[in-house]
Amino acid sequence: MNRLISPSLLSADFAHLADDLQMLNQSEADWLHIDIMDGVFVPNISFGFPVLKYVAQLTEKPLDVHLMVVHPEKFIPEVKALNAAVMNVHYEAVIHLHRVVQQIKEAGMKAGVTINPSTPVHLLSDIISEVDLVLIMSVNPGFGGQKFIEHSIEKVKQLRKMIDEQHATALIEVDGGVCQANASRLFAAGADVLVAGNAIFSAPNPTEMISTLKGH
Ligand code: DX5
Ligand code: ZN
Repeated sequence: MNRLISPSLLSADFAHLADDLQMLNQSEADWLHIDIMDGVFVPNISFGFPVLKYVAQLTEKPLDVHLMVVHPEKFIPEVKALNAAVMNVHYEAVIHLHRVVQQIKEAGMKAGVTINPSTPVHLLSDIISEVDLVLIMSVNPGFGGQKFIEHSIEKVKQLRKMIDEQHATALIEVDGGVCQANASRLFAAGADVLVAGNAIFSAPNPTEMISTLKGH
């Protein structure tokens, strides 16, 4: 079983991004989670491609890009230009999900589908064998530092069951409110990758917290 950690750039110190990226390069972090917001799909705006171009140059970790925007398919070339490993689009933001998943894979990236807390896992049954990853939101997207929604653990279990029953290979990632109090339970429920922002960057020792969340 995978136990991967994807620290969220959203909680980094934007005045000293290079320092935080160097800290992550030297940590046990597996990926770097990048939250792109448009103020329409979610009630907030984060950072855009001009900033991310420099982030991509400074990080040694594979980029795990989470688009919280309407029409995310418009940005496949921009995400690809960052050399991203994973491109996550929201189930709720895409009408022709099957087509968009193929387009992301044709661009050479892993295709991830993200579901909001109110979107049931069973809606993924006809796409699960096509996707490389499912990102379960365990808070309502738009902000870091929110409280973990406990029902998300049940959703991880349901998704693990669906993946196993269909002999699919999608990874399960969880995003929002992940911390020491729930990380091991999420991995035990079947999660492969945990995103963490506030828990890592507000810790006295972020490097140690990354290892702790991995169970080391
Ligand atoms: C929320 C973002 C998350 C966020 C997680 O909209 O998708 O990636 O940065 O932050 P924490 O871990 O602080 O909840
Ligand atoms: Zn995210």
